[in-house]
Amino acid sequence: MVKYIFSIFSFEDMDQLGALLARALPDGSVVALIGTLGAGKTRLTQAIAAACGIVPTEVTSPTFVLIQEYYGDRNLYHFDLYRLDRDMEFQNLGPDEYFESDGITLLEWADKFEHLLPSERVTIQIDILSPTTRQVTISAEGEKYAAFLDSLRNFGEPSDEE
Ligand SMILES: Nc1ncnc2c1ncn2[C@@H]1O[C@H](COP(=O)(O)OP(=O)(O)O)[C@@H](O)[C@H]1O
Ligand SMILES: [Mg+2]
Repeated sequence: MVKYIFSIFSFEDMDQLGALLARALPDGSVVALIGTLGAGKTRLTQAIAAACGIVPTEVTSPTFVLIQEYYGDRNLYHFDLYRLDRDMEFQNLGPDEYFESDGITLLEWADKFEHLLPSERVTIQIDILSPTTRQVTISAEGEKYAAFLDSLRNFGEPSDEE
């Protein structure tokens, strides 16, 4: 599977990546955000939201809220699954309705419930390189995301590694 690697050296780089994603993700995107605590999953969501005309301060980590909905030029549905353990807890949030909507659904800690996500989805892995730098690896499964992946080619570094 092709993956694109983005080297993030600053908040500005993260904001630019957010803007690129806000432009390039198709309607109805499901985005799994993977990375340890403090990796930048919320920060990247804020960057995408800002690029969609959503006031960035509205976007906090929804750890206690579980889902937040933001309405802008594009609608974002932001899940944080950190505190959920059982499948039922996730299913009770009605995720399929969000997955089938036209908005962009972003899920922090999506790896905990991978088996309940659509098989066609975008995966964004964020790795901490230093307190201020990150490596962001983006891949996607499904025809729906072919044009999206293509549009990353000019910005990220391709990697064919599994
Ligand atoms: N270039 C960067 N991009 C994103 N976050 C950064 C960057 N440099 C430092 N940080 C810090 O990393 C932390 C990321 O936090 P957050 O987005 O809440 O992580 P997560 O949601 O993955 O737990 C914040 O404290 C932020 O200030
Ligand atoms: Mg977070």
